Order: sequence, then C-alpha cells, then structure tokens
Amino acid sequence: MARRCHFLAVVLAGAFFGFAWAQQQQGQRVNVTVYVEGVVTVYITHGAPAKPSFVAPPSPKSEMFYTLSERNYIDNSIAASIRVDFGSKATSLSSGDLVQAPLTISLDPSQAALLGLGSDLTSFGGRRRLLSAKHEQARRMALEFHETRRSVQEVRSLLGILQTLGVSSLGQTPKSDDPIIVDRSADKDLFIVNGQSQTISSVTFVFYSSSCGVYPSINAAKIRQWWFDAGRNASITGTLQRYYETCSYNQLRFPKDNNFVFDVDIPCTGVSFFGRYDLRKGYGNGFSLDNEFSIFSLLAKDFLRRTNFQLSLDWMNFRRKIYMFPFDFQTTWFGRPGMGQHGCNYGSECSTWINIPMNSDRPDVPFIFQELGHNIGLTHSSRDVCDGGKCWNDEVGDPVDPMGSVWINDRDKNIACLNAPQAYKAGWATTIKNGHISAFSDLRPGMPRDFVLPAMAYNKSNMLRIVTDQGKAVVDEFTEPPQRALFVSYRVRVNASGSYDSALNDIWNNRVWVHQFDDTANGMRSSWPPVVLSALTDDTPPPDVPGWGPLPRNFIQQLPADLGALTIRVKGKTPLTATVTVCRYLRANETGSFEICSDGLDNDCDGLVDAVDPDCATFLTKRSPPPC
Ligand SMILES: *[C@@H]1O[C@H](CO)[C@@H](O)[C@H](O)[C@H]1NC(C)=O
Ligand SMILES: *[C@@H]1O[C@H](CO)[C@@H](O)[C@H](O)[C@H]1NC(C)=O
Ligand SMILES: *[C@@H]1O[C@H](CO)[C@@H](O)[C@H](O)[C@H]1NC(C)=O
Ligand SMILES: *[C@@H]1O[C@H](CO)[C@@H](O)[C@H](O)[C@H]1NC(C)=O
Ligand SMILES: *[C@@H]1O[C@H](CO)[C@@H](O)[C@H](O)[C@H]1NC(C)=O
Repeated sequence: MARRCHFLAVVLAGAFFGFAWAQQQQGQRVNVTVYVEGVVTVYITHGAPAKPSFVAPPSPKSEMFYTLSERNYIDNSIAASIRVDFGSKATSLSSGDLVQAPLTISLDPSQAALLGLGSDLTSFGGRRRLLSAKHEQARRMALEFHETRRSVQEVRSLLGILQTLGVSSLGQTPKSDDPIIVDRSADKDLFIVNGQSQTISSVTFVFYSSSCGVYPSINAAKIRQWWFDAGRNASITGTLQRYYETCSYNQLRFPKDNNFVFDVDIPCTGVSFFGRYDLRKGYGNGFSLDNEFSIFSLLAKDFLRRTNFQLSLDWMNFRRKIYMFPFDFQTTWFGRPGMGQHGCNYGSECSTWINIPMNSDRPDVPFIFQELGHNIGLTHSSRDVCDGGKCWNDEVGDPVDPMGSVWINDRDKNIACLNAPQAYKAGWATTIKNGHISAFSDLRPGMPRDFVLPAMAYNKSNMLRIVTDQGKAVVDEFTEPPQRALFVSYRVRVNASGSYDSALNDIWNNRVWVHQFDDTANGMRSSWPPVVLSALTDDTPPPDVPGWGPLPRNFIQQLPADLGALTIRVKGKTPLTATVTVCRYLRANETGSFEICSDGLDNDCDGLVDAVDPDCATFLTKRSPPPC
C-alpha cells in the first residue's frame, strides 16, 4: 500500500511539474547573487581525539568553516550570521576581517522550478500557481534580492525560507568566490610580540539542565582545580594556567582573578532570539546546528545579568568564552570533542565549545589547550608519515605538542609544551643568538657551523630557524607569510611535576627535532600547519620507535635547484643542551681530485674533512709528483 501511494505521488508530481521537467532537460543552474557586507569568523572542528599510541593513527581531518556576521552596534555582539563557502579564497581570510562579498545561492533546475524561476531569473512562460504562499514569498525574495546589496539578516531569512521549503538541500552553503577585504583588524590577539606579556581574561560556563535531567560529572568547582595553579604540591599540577604560563615562559598569563568559571542551569530545548534550539537532538531550526551553537552565549549572558550584573557589563572584555556541555547526552548530533574559533579579535566574541563526557569528572586539559591555541590562531602540528611506500600527512601527527597528539602519562601532574615552530609563531620562544640564518647566504658549502641549543625547557631563546625559501631567502621574522624554514630544537623533560615538558616520555625525551614551517612570527593567524620532519639522536644503539624506525643522527634536506642540500647532525648532548652541526653541500662525496681532498672543506658534509674522509683515500695517494 505504501508503495502504491508513493507511486501515485510521483505521478502527480510529474504531472504538476511537467512543464518544469521540459525546461530542466536543457536545464541550467539558477544563481541568485546578493552582495553582503559582514565580519568573517573562522571556526575549526575536530575529529576524534588522539589515541594513546606512539604511532599517531591517521586521524580524521578537522574541518574549517567560515561565517559572515553582522554586529549589534550596541555591544558588538553577533546579531545575525550565515555560513559561507569562500572556496579557494578562504585561506586569505582571517577572523575579524570585514569583507564585501557577492554570495551565490545556486539552485539546480528542479529547485528553481519549484519557485518558477528561469535561468535568467525571470519566470518562464506564463505565470502559474506555485505550491504555496511561502513558495511565492521565496520567489519574490529571490527576484528582489538578486544583484542587490542586502544585510546578513536578510540573506539569512532567504536561506531559512528556502531550506524550510526543501528548495535548497539541508545545510546548503552560499558560495563567494570574490570577497573584498574592506578592513582587516591589526590586532594581534594574545600573540606575544617583542616579549610584551599579555593576560588572558576568560569566562567558562559549565552547563547542565535540571529540566532535562542532564547533570554532567564535571562542574565549575572541578574545572577551577584544573584551570588554576595551587602550588607544586597540589594534587593537580597539570593545570591550564601552567600550560600557558610555563610554556610561554611566563609571558602569557592566566591568573585566577581574570578568569571566571560558573555552573549554569539551562533548559535543554527552547526558543531564543535566533529561533528554536534542541540540545537533545540538534537541528532545532530544522536544517542546521546554528541555533544550538548560538544558544550558549545568550544563556550565559542572561545568567550573568541575573546573578552577577557587574561582571555581565564586562562581557565584551572577556577575551575568551568557553562553553562546556555534554552535547551528545541523548543522541550524537555534535559528535566531536570540540569546536573553536580559529583566530580571534579584540572587541569581538571569541568562543570555544567543549563537548564534555557525562560520566567523567576530568576535563581533557591538553585538548582544551589545543582549542584555545586555535583561538590565538595556531593550527595543528602535523607529520608526514610514510609506510610501505605510501605517504600521507597526519594533520595532528606531532607526538610532542598539544597542538598535535601528545600523549600525557599522568595528566594530573604533567604538561607538554608547544613545538618550536608553534612557540615561535605564538611569540613565546625565539631563536638563539645568531641562530636565525639563511640556508643560502649564511652557510658556505662545505663549511659546517655548530650551534649549541639549550633545551626548550631552560631558555626561551632556544631554537635555530634556517630559511630555505629560495624565493624569499632573506632572513625575515615578521612579514606576511609564507617563508619556508626549518626549525631545529632540543626537548628535554623536566622531572618536577607541572614543569616544562614534564610529560615527555622516555622515547621522546632528549631528542633534537626538525620541523618545517612556512609562517613567520607576524602575529597573524597561521595559514599552514608545521610538519615534523625528524627526531634525531646520537644514542647508540638508536632507539627503534614503532612507526618511525631507528631514530637517525642526521637529517638531510634537499634545497631548491642547484643550491645543494643541507645536513643537520647531532654532534653531542647533555641534559641541558644539544650541539648540532649544520652544513650545506654541493657534492655528494669528496671523491674527484687532489684539490677537493686538500681544500680544507667538508665538501660532502659527512663530518670528515679531506684525508680523514675515506672518499679521499685514492686521490691523496694518486697525488701527482711536484714539477721539477
Ligand atoms: C551558476 O553557477 C554555476 C556554478 O556554481 C555555473 O556552472 C552556472 O553556469 C551558473 N548559471 C548561470 C545561469 O550563470
Ligand atoms: C612541598 O612539599 C615539600 C616536601 O614534601 C616541602 O619541602 C615544600 O615546602 C612544599 N612546598 C610548598 C609550596 O608547599
Ligand atoms: C638564554 O639565552 C640567552 C641568549 O641566547 C642568553 O643571553 C641567556 O643567558 C640565557 N639564559 C639562561 C638562563 O641560560
Ligand atoms: C630526571 O629523571 C631521570 C630518571 O627518571 C634522570 O635520569 C634524569 O637525570 C633526571 N633529569 C634531571 C634534569 O634531573
Ligand atoms: C660522487 O659524487 C658525484 C656527484 O657529486 C657523482 O657523480 C659520483 O658518482 C659520486 N661518486 C661516488 C663514488 O659515489
């Protein structure tokens, strides 16, 4: 019976749309283009959290998405926002950019037919009745809006009506291939610039719902234990405060006085200024999760107004808003451990949503630190992995960086800090004296240079940055990216709990790391993830690490064109410092002639010069007799 009904419906629809079908055969997409001005916000959501393994599993990629929003003039809060697909232009946009963008809502021929729209955005043939008054309204709006300038709110209404009519598919996102940046905020949001220290102010809300019986095990009192330092002897020293203060060499502060935590009781379904929300199942508006994610700031503001009016006046001065809730308590509609803004700006909202489990009273502090790292504008820390002839980029494959997938053995006690390129980008750490060099102009072929690197734990001047970018070979610390460079750093565990890199396990302790990263420390959001290229050691025998193989002593980087290659070698190390030798070579060996074997150069950068190099054995004995 159900089958026959379905068949009947198809026949009827076919008859009704007979005319549209004919049009659709030679059909073209119909594009409604509207010009909108708004502020860009970039968000990042995550795959599943990393597993406890030395071999980083190929993790599900994170997803970036972009919104355009209109601000409320009174308090600069978001009045309306829509998702936009900026396509290949997306990477040029940062959170906080004010853009004018043509938005294209593209309808396929059958969708256009539902609104009686022809490909030139006129009706085809004689007017006929549409399915409903709502369809008529949508059609009028599409025709009126096309090629005009509209507000974000107006576009939102058009999208909403199309989506509720089922005209455009669920969550269909308008595209914009030509956003013009009208104003770019020069704010450097909590990056450390020139060693100028900064203080984070935040407010964290731990939501529960008595009306729906949702009581997560985490509450504000527990969060405070994990946020704030209570001395070295406290039961928890792996606090967020220590992640910030210790890892930034005390330049980015997270004091208790500026960072508030509240429990908030909320209805888990309801209607807000944005429309219906449903925290049981998501999709309160019928087509997207926008209302669910928006509701938290409204409920939080409302809570503060009622309970702490003075603080509520400061809402926009809190640089970070952290919303914690067991999103998937009934059905998995979020399905991710968190979502955060990628890059934030002073004077506008900066939000992070953390999906807490119902039955654990331990927040995942390294993960939350990663989310808040995205707020500053840091990307993930990745690794190029090769196995059985296949290679891929593991987006979070750096095993010793919370922006990657560090595994921390005792989370109560220990912390792990940023890798060298991330610490450099954030302005937390910098190069050693004379450690910022160009692979071309500062390294003469065959003339090795030694550098003593303090472990990152012991000095914020600790790394080498070697510019390998032929197109922009001048050593440049601050300009717009990109500038390709290698970073060399030494990471050592400090044994006392809560100390810098106290979480490093034996496998990764005392290693010299080589990363490649294309960004400079210009205080802007990162556009590329840093990549781990190697972990070096002079231990004999070298440790054999699953997924990595025996750790090498040397790393070799081919340079562009005829500029040769670069060797980075661990010369020696102590518990406090590592000495590395960096050498550029144009020849793969020292064989060839007596001259090459007596020029005093280590032509092949293998650490052996002239007579000492076995390559030279035959050439030195074949020396021609001096002329009489
Ligand atoms: C609408 O845009 C699509 C690309 O999104 C394009 O292929 C198509 O030709 C456009 N239609 C018209 C009528 O311009
Ligand atoms: C921590 O404990 C040690 C010994 O258990 C003691 O010597 C030290 O004074 C304590 N430190 C603080 C800050 O309480
Ligand atoms: C850290 O390094 C800087 C520059 O390389 C040096 O001047 C300073 O003495 C070092 N500090 C410590 C504590 O070793
Ligand atoms: C840290 O502890 C390990 C043993 O667990 C020891 O070998 C190492 O020397 C200690 N490091 C420092 C800097 O005290
Ligand atoms: C030495 O290197 C040159 C190129 O630099 C190469 O042509 C030659 O085959 C190498 N010789 C040996 C013995 O590896």
